[in-house]
Order: sequence, then structure tokens, then C-alpha cells
Amino acid sequence: MTDQRKPFVVGAYYESSEDKQAFLRKVFDDTAKHYEAIAKWGWFGSGDWYRREALRRNGVTADMRVLDVASGTGQVARALMQILNSPEQVECVEPSAGMIEESKKIVPVVHHQAAAENLPVDSESFDFLTMGFALRHVDNLETSFREFRRVLKDGGTVLIMDVTVPSGTIPRFFFRMYFKYLLPFFSGLLTWDRNVFLLMRYYWDSMDQMVDIDGILENLRRAGFTQVQHKALLGCFSEYTARR
Ligand SMILES: C[S@@+](CC[C@H](N)C(=O)[O-])C[C@H]1O[C@@H](n2cnc3c(N)ncnc32)[C@H](O)[C@@H]1O
Repeated sequence: MTDQRKPFVVGAYYESSEDKQAFLRKVFDDTAKHYEAIAKWGWFGSGDWYRREALRRNGVTADMRVLDVASGTGQVARALMQILNSPEQVECVEPSAGMIEESKKIVPVVHHQAAAENLPVDSESFDFLTMGFALRHVDNLETSFREFRRVLKDGGTVLIMDVTVPSGTIPRFFFRMYFKYLLPFFSGLLTWDRNVFLLMRYYWDSMDQMVDIDGILENLRRAGFTQVQHKALLGCFSEYTARR
């Protein structure tokens, strides 16, 4: 099991946790204008539907206040707005100014420019906290999960959605072909932007080297969460839930 008290570093791209956050901020700033399109064609248009269903399935209800961490261009916030009574019930946290700028065009909610490790919101102020597809970008999982617990009300729920590389030889082969070669190539070609190619190459490398499922569950427990669970859909969509 990987010890996530140490920073998670993918060596070919950066060497320290400071470099990592600077690298991520730059690559997401540089590619923000293309992100919506890549996310749509990369996942064959399933993204909005999947996020909405995952939120409903894991207990988001119309009256809740929800914090979405690593909100990107607002995909999870957009799905939340279809469930909640009012956009005022959602707040987003995202470190990349470029991603926030794109997000503001789509979701009329409060955006905070910050990282998961240090949330600029009051303690015990949210019923539900979501983080979509950003586990491998967060520098220190235990510190971040402690922050998640701090800002949730008693009984509040955290839902973390992410991709897991399938374990079977054949599914893993196809997954690798698609994410390591096809998606970076076609994303780079269609956008004609080398930053997009870099992002999508990093996407696979960071996914491949990501902390394993047990490591994520262990970090949630260490941060003080209870009822810690993991579900996998189609062998590659992971949903982690836990209660404060
Ligand atoms: C793949 S995008 C996911 C966006 C969105 N949540 C979704 O469901 O598509 C990952 C996001 O994580 C953000 N990120 C990177 N480092 C982060 C950190 N330390 N804390 C919070 N978010 C971070 C990036 O800027 C990027 O917008």
C-alpha cells in the first residue's frame, strides 16, 4: 500500500510537491479552453449523465449544501444544479484560474481559487462534499481528507469519483491503448495544441501510478471518516464514500 502522507509525485513531470502543483496549475490553465470538449469526446459523451447518477445514487438531495472540490470547468457543479433547489447551495473549489474562468461561463455559483489541502470555507458548513477525477492531482490525501471532514457537518457525506485502471489483463490492455496512445494523439490532433497532448499523456501516467483503492480507503479512515466504502462500476469507475 502506498503511504499517502508522503506527496504523490510522477517523476517524469516534476520532482517535488511544489513543482507538482505548479505543473498542474500551468497545464490546466493552458488547456482550460479545450477541457470541456476533451472530457466530452474522451468519455463518449457519458460524463454529465454519469456524474448526475452517481450524485443521486450516493445520497445528494435537493435541500443540501454541497462543496465541490477540484471543480474544473464545473462538470460536477452542473450535475448538482440539476438536483439541488438553487445554485446558491453549491460552492466550488479549484486551484486553476483558467479552469475557474471557463466554469464561470457555465455554472453561476461561488468559486474559490484554492487547493483541496486548504479549503477556504467555514468548518461544519456543508452537508455533502464531492471531488471528481482529481485524486491523483491532490498532493497529500490525508491532509485533504482531514480538510473535507472539517468542512462537513456532523453526519455529512464525502463522495469521491475517479477512474481506476482495470485489473484484468485484457481490459487493462484496451484501457491502456486508449488512454496512453489514442486519447493523447486524437486530443492533440483535434485541438492542435501541444499542451493538450501533454495533459493527456500525464492523464494516463498519473492514473497508472495512482495510489491503490485500499490506500485511498485507509487515508479516509486516518482522516477520521467512518462508514468508508468503495464501489466500482464497469471495473473502472470508482466511487468512494464516507461519513463524518
Ligand atoms: C480532471 S479535472 C476534474 C474536473 C471535474 N471535477 C470533473 O469532474 O471533470 C482535475 C482538476 O483538479 C484540479 N486540481 C489540481 N490539483 C488540485 C489540488 N491540489 N486540489 C484541488 N484541485 C486540484 C485541476 O486544476 C483540475 O481542474
